Amino acid sequence: MSGSIKEQINKLRQEINEHNYRYHVLDDPLISDAEYDRLFQQLKKLETTHPEFILPDSPTQRVGAAPLKSFHSVEHTVPMLSLDNAFTEHDVMAFDQRIRDKLHTTHPIEYCCEPKLDGLAINLRYEKGQLVQAATRGDGMIGEEVTDNIKTIRTVPWQLKGEDVPDVLEVRGEVFMSKKSFNQLNDDAQAKNEKIFANPRNAAAGSVRQLDSKITASRPLAIFCYGIGLVEGMKLPAKHSEVLSCLERWGLRVNPFTAVVEDEKGCLLYYQKMAAKRDSLPYEIDGVVYKVNALSEQERLGFVSRAPRWAIAHKFPAEEAETIIQEVEFQVGRTGALTPVARLKPVHVHGVTVSNATLHNMDEIHRKDIHIGDHVVVRRAGDVIPEVVSVITTKRSSDIKKIKLPTHCPVCHSAIEQIEGEAVARCTGHLVCSAQRKEAIRHFASRRAMNIEGLGEKLVEQLVDAKLISSMADIYSLTHEEAANLERMGDKSAQNLFDEIEKSKTTTLPRFLYALGIREVGEATAKQLAMHFKTLEALQQASEETLQQVEDVGPVVAAHIVHFFHESHNREMIKKLLKAGIHWPEIKVGYQLPLKGKTFVLTGTLNEMSREEAKEKLEKLGAKVAGSVSSKTSYVVAGSDPGSKLDKARGLGVAVLDEKNFLKLLVKGC
Ligand code: IVH
Repeated sequence: MSGSIKEQINKLRQEINEHNYRYHVLDDPLISDAEYDRLFQQLKKLETTHPEFILPDSPTQRVGAAPLKSFHSVEHTVPMLSLDNAFTEHDVMAFDQRIRDKLHTTHPIEYCCEPKLDGLAINLRYEKGQLVQAATRGDGMIGEEVTDNIKTIRTVPWQLKGEDVPDVLEVRGEVFMSKKSFNQLNDDAQAKNEKIFANPRNAAAGSVRQLDSKITASRPLAIFCYGIGLVEGMKLPAKHSEVLSCLERWGLRVNPFTAVVEDEKGCLLYYQKMAAKRDSLPYEIDGVVYKVNALSEQERLGFVSRAPRWAIAHKFPAEEAETIIQEVEFQVGRTGALTPVARLKPVHVHGVTVSNATLHNMDEIHRKDIHIGDHVVVRRAGDVIPEVVSVITTKRSSDIKKIKLPTHCPVCHSAIEQIEGEAVARCTGHLVCSAQRKEAIRHFASRRAMNIEGLGEKLVEQLVDAKLISSMADIYSLTHEEAANLERMGDKSAQNLFDEIEKSKTTTLPRFLYALGIREVGEATAKQLAMHFKTLEALQQASEETLQQVEDVGPVVAAHIVHFFHESHNREMIKKLLKAGIHWPEIKVGYQLPLKGKTFVLTGTLNEMSREEAKEKLEKLGAKVAGSVSSKTSYVVAGSDPGSKLDKARGLGVAVLDEKNFLKLLVKGC
């Protein structure tokens, strides 16, 4: 008896999974929704009476797992990169020219064109065809594990289909919410007096980053896959478009508007076509992506910093709307810079209500001839802060008011100075100015700096206003009681904050330098400085001339750095921070040594470099290169005609990288 129930359950499970695939992935259902529901209910009923036959891949199980306390970090095997943007036809032509120059060819380049979905990038890891992990992009190197949440998305297969599924496959895709689902979600939220999402992108991101996957399960999310991060145990086809076909064959969903074009002119035509379609698509797209189709050419082109040279996002023009400037206020930034901000009559721009827009600086105000009371065009481009594009002078009334630079800081009342030749006016209050202090502390705690989660704008504001902290160093002497007594805080949040503060003490020198907020020292410069000087002491003692030996550091930046370390209050603060226990690993060779502690074994012939070169590159990144495979080996790099080392690696379950993925891994340290 139970045998036949088991068989019935198995049959129904397979049947429903197949219908799911046809409906969600192929968009080609064989049966009606009602018929589907009937099958689903039948399976559910059988499983309720015979829970011993419920398998994890049953469609009834896509409901979410037990809530998590926090997300686990996942180090991406291959970094998740970002894309450069093109805004004009000229940018696209220049992109194509750069590619042909790099490839030394005058022939047209074949491109694969895809819509650029506006959602959240996800890496799906399949082992032997089974979904084992899903992670967000995070900072590109380290993301958050969101497997349970992603498993609730119906268009994400738990098991890949087909005979030729690779041993390991990491697929990259965009998780998104359709326009309709987004509107429904917000309508429901409004009815229940709950949080409204600003746009479908935020709704998708907010839904994926839920600790309780049952909440994610209740949100109508979908995915389009657009590439592969890592593949082991199979040779990829020659073209990106063929890779996408493989993904489709394995049951993954690929955007149906993907097209291969002959050259850059084909890209521009594709752009026009998608721009015309944009409004009628059921999901948001914010542009299109062009990718060099031949994988061998992609490899030759490689990467610059965080983006591949072989792909570009051609963005649609930012959305614009018309409104009125009601008032202009001046905000004080971390370095005292005064930014005029227009308070607008609230207006809808691309699905978001905009009530503030930056006016950048006084020069911009004069150049655009902006006055209080003017009718203006505001633009909101992606995540960028809305800005005032232009004044509609034909609508100007007689009672407009001139915008005046204040003579004194609106926060601390110190004098405002404007250095000749500089567009920016600054408050001279420095640490006296609570606005500057707040901004400096907020920057110190931000994700790319010391990464103290929870210590955002609002909390910093509360802490500074309550005089509990007045500098970044004070963060580390805050007491549990002080934090817990704050409004909206409580014991648990205070504990979380403390855990985060404690965690932040273990950092890296580049992060610490960036966190200090030295003028003109962004993330990239902080990395260059750390790589060059290796220790904080050496950097502190460097002269302007020595500093200028560092790439990207010119006389202005060098002067800012020297000035920063010269100020006794900064030196005192650094002392306090170090005394509080902030520390980082010693820098020996490279600035980050991303492969430190990893052992590699090379086998077979590599196309792009000799084994000697590969060894050298790996060692530069901190890895050890060994001659034979053991259980301690982290990776075996297998070129063509690999030897017995590969078999041994497989036998021991050691990760194997083919040349393409090996090259991608090397990018980590470049
Ligand atoms: S390719 C190395 N293709 O855009 C290539 N990205 O700005 C990296 N995105 O993080 C991405 N649609 O989240 C690619 N068809 C598409 C895309 C796409 C949306 C997102 C993705 C990425 C971001 C880069």
